Amino acid sequence: MVIKVSINGSTLPLDEARISPLDRGFLFGDAVYDVIKFIDAKAFMYDKHYWRITNSLDGLQFPENDWSFLLEDMRKLIHENGLENGMSLVYLQISRGAYEARSHEFPKEEIKPTIFLMATPCPQLKPKGLKLASRQDNRWGLCKYKTVNLLGNVLTKQSVVEDGNCNEVVLIKDGIALECSSSALAIIDPEGKVVTHPPADYMLPSISVMGMEQVCKNQGLDYVERPFTLDEVKSAGEVLVLSSVRDISQANILDGEKVGDKNPEILDKLQKGFADLVKSSLS
Ligand SMILES: Cc1ncc(COP(=O)(O)O)c(C=O)c1O
Repeated sequence: MVIKVSINGSTLPLDEARISPLDRGFLFGDAVYDVIKFIDAKAFMYDKHYWRITNSLDGLQFPENDWSFLLEDMRKLIHENGLENGMSLVYLQISRGAYEARSHEFPKEEIKPTIFLMATPCPQLKPKGLKLASRQDNRWGLCKYKTVNLLGNVLTKQSVVEDGNCNEVVLIKDGIALECSSSALAIIDPEGKVVTHPPADYMLPSISVMGMEQVCKNQGLDYVERPFTLDEVKSAGEVLVLSSVRDISQANILDGEKVGDKNPEILDKLQKGFADLVKSSLS
């Protein structure tokens, strides 16, 4: 089946979709994106996604706008692709737009942003037994904004795929384990606490981590935000890799050594609790 995508509100087959080569997303990576999970055409934790999208747009100093129409456009695209039953993902990208010059500073005149949406089935990824490797984080300092500037993520991910066929890369900054290339990271520490890094300019606020915090509250589990080292990941009870595509998944290999796999009860509570949360947080 031909995928239909949406550009600036018009739906068309993927191979007919066009944007200008002078689009600032293409020239400068001057664009924000997000990936949202839908079940039966209803979005998971959309209020948090909306906050992250608008926070990223504000961070890039996009002109003020009311973006509330986006959710309806996403739902429409899901239906137009026949994905209204079951799990799907919507990729959203908003660039500052195109104008007839290539110069670093923002255009003086108002230009229309380019809004691209794509809906695809959500892949079923394995929930346990992921293989990880660590690398130094070489990304810019404002990863709290979800921009399309992903070369640091791309190059480190590529190197661990080439080196050991790993599923994800753990990004390390000053000895601290932050997150992965396209997923968040958490551990269950030896005391059974669920630990994630606190929000910081240099890492993405993960919607799945926000969901996990909610699950911990519901299940009476301790949830702590504090930095943790690569050594702590290696000696953790469990190592968790989270994203809108993966939900909460478990890794058992890091840098070629066995890790985690020591706290199956808490892992099970988190995974089952998250599956329940997904069903009850749709809009
Ligand atoms: C760098 C990075 N960290 C964390 C995540 C997880 O975010 P979420 O749980 O909102 O999917 C992603 C997902 O795209 C990501 O790219």
